[in-house]
Amino acid sequence: MSRFYLTTAIDYVNSRPHLGTAYEKITADVIARYRRLRGDETHFVMGNDEHSQNVYRRAVELGVDPLEYCDRMEREFREVWGKLAISFDDFIRTTEPRHRAGVTEVFRRIADAGDLYEGYYEGWYCVSCEAFKQEKDLVDGNCPVHLKPPEWIREKNHFFRLSRYRQPLLDHFAAHPEFLVPEIRRNEILRLLESGLEDISVSRAGQPWGIPLPTDRASVVYVWFDALINYASAVGLGTDEARFATWWPADLHIVGKDITRFHAVVWPAMLMSAAIALPRQVFGHGFVYLKGQKMSKSLGTVLDPLEAADRLGPDPLRLYLVKEIPYGGDGDFSWERFEERYNVDLANNLGNLVSRVTAMTDRYRGGRLPAGAVSGRLADVAAGAVADYRRAMDDLALHDGAAAAYRIVDGANEFIAETEPWSLAKDPAQAERLTGVLYDVTEAVRVAAVLLSPVMPAAAFEILRRMGAPADPDGLRLDMDATWRTGDARAAQKADALWPRLETTSVSPDDTTATDAAPASKRRPKTMSPEQKEPVPAPSPPPPAAPAAADARISIDDFMNVEMRVAKVLAAERVPNSKKLIKMQVDVGTEQRTLVAGIAEAYEAESLVGRTVAIVFNLKPAKLMGIESNGMVLAASPEGGKPSLVTFDEPAPPLGSRVR
Ligand code: MSP
Repeated sequence: MSRFYLTTAIDYVNSRPHLGTAYEKITADVIARYRRLRGDETHFVMGNDEHSQNVYRRAVELGVDPLEYCDRMEREFREVWGKLAISFDDFIRTTEPRHRAGVTEVFRRIADAGDLYEGYYEGWYCVSCEAFKQEKDLVDGNCPVHLKPPEWIREKNHFFRLSRYRQPLLDHFAAHPEFLVPEIRRNEILRLLESGLEDISVSRAGQPWGIPLPTDRASVVYVWFDALINYASAVGLGTDEARFATWWPADLHIVGKDITRFHAVVWPAMLMSAAIALPRQVFGHGFVYLKGQKMSKSLGTVLDPLEAADRLGPDPLRLYLVKEIPYGGDGDFSWERFEERYNVDLANNLGNLVSRVTAMTDRYRGGRLPAGAVSGRLADVAAGAVADYRRAMDDLALHDGAAAAYRIVDGANEFIAETEPWSLAKDPAQAERLTGVLYDVTEAVRVAAVLLSPVMPAAAFEILRRMGAPADPDGLRLDMDATWRTGDARAAQKADALWPRLETTSVSPDDTTATDAAPASKRRPKTMSPEQKEPVPAPSPPPPAAPAAADARISIDDFMNVEMRVAKVLAAERVPNSKKLIKMQVDVGTEQRTLVAGIAEAYEAESLVGRTVAIVFNLKPAKLMGIESNGMVLAASPEGGKPSLVTFDEPAPPLGSRVR
């Protein structure tokens, strides 16, 4: 059995978790649960970063002892993580003695390596970032992240010879291309390394709050230097060498894109200096925005994740964040979109499928299915989806993993539509086939639930129970349980709809602001209709399709099948021998793609570079003049006129945002 040690960033505790910090913990939890499903011995660590000056200031503001304040915040954080079903194995706080021992150990080793020296630091410091700032980085004298003036400090500091590790880091990046992913982050950091590294201050003088420097009790360890070491102290560095040898090096650090630099430059350099092995991988995820607006504790534009979880449930929130946002890119949250996805993915699709199959099994077979399926196409769909799921999840493409599981759900719905169990039920000669069809659908739903269990743990186990295949939450294994079965008898359990459909709200995106609460009256799930309480199979024969066929309008679901996203043009050139075509390279946040667009009569290729455009993201590739185009750029094409690109207001929305 292989081991897997993964961590998230540890959170500042000057305020409660928000949807952005929760996003990180949810996605890391999905990875941890997937690893357990794979059968890996998994150790998942999270925690709180308590030695920040902001934390100290907040405690002083509230008139409480800082440690007592941190204790209180720990309880609040644990409560939020519990409600969001985050299954960490350990929770570390930087005020714990075990962490202090780890920090002391690393400091000693770095000092012994000759990588610490004393000097003076004079310059800007942003307390909200807990980072030293260069004059050139300020905007109108303010920190560009927090829009507040930084503080000018001049103090004796201890410096770490980071500059010494520039070449070793470059070598490490070259030898281990997987060290930092996704590629967009790796490229950013490589550019930074190539432009040179300066030594950094790793202590703060005259601060009352922090871990005293082993070599200078009048200074405390700089909060970032302190915090990074949590990953090692959590597994025993400085306190339990055997445990440390068991778990270190970490397999994966999950962190946000704003702090990738600390994890991919400073942290590995510290470890190199201390002669400790480097973590195997750092993943820099994107940011969750609120309707395009940055979520920030210090700017006061935050959404409480529990508000979203309370509204529709923690599992729907987890599914939304995982399936909707390509992992590694930026994403957006809006109440409207959350409800929409809830209705589409859960109420109408998976939830309805569970209701239909249990209701039909109940009605036609008294809830019991003997062993034996017709199998065939649906089993193949499931096998293909399981293989894709594994690949995607191993590559941390969590959104693709969720989509693969949904392919089984879609396949099962199509299978029901094709086989028409309600018609089979009328013909005694088809009895065996009907049993097989119901068995197949039950089996497909079971496999989909196994695949979705890391994303929606509570729902997945409930679905398994309803499919007559209850499982022990710690006992599911991908190899065994995602394999198509034909041999067990099943007793399906009919019950209330898992996710009652929401009334379509009249709330437009503009009715909600980043921080507002969704008006409860408009958003509570509709009381279950009799049909939902007791889902019945489609009537027999199904209603004629004529009205729909006569009306060419499409449903919102049809529209949502077309995935349009914001992209930036990185390079563009005319396709030789073509009057119309331009080949371009675009960045969609999570990846770069080549597209071919028929806009050369209206645009010079060069003028397109740097522009933000909308593209159809989920179009099958097509070859144009021998070039494979992966997507389509959106442009208006007036009759007889030249194409005109769809554009966006400034500032441009984050790359990868959905256009709808
Ligand atoms: N304490 C430091 C991390 C030290 S790790 C050794 C810190 N804390 S934080 O509370 O500000 O952020 C915690 C994590 O949440 C970071 O990885 C950060 O990138 C992430 N996020 C903060 N806002 C976010 C979004 N809006 N969206 C997604 N992740 C976000 O930084």
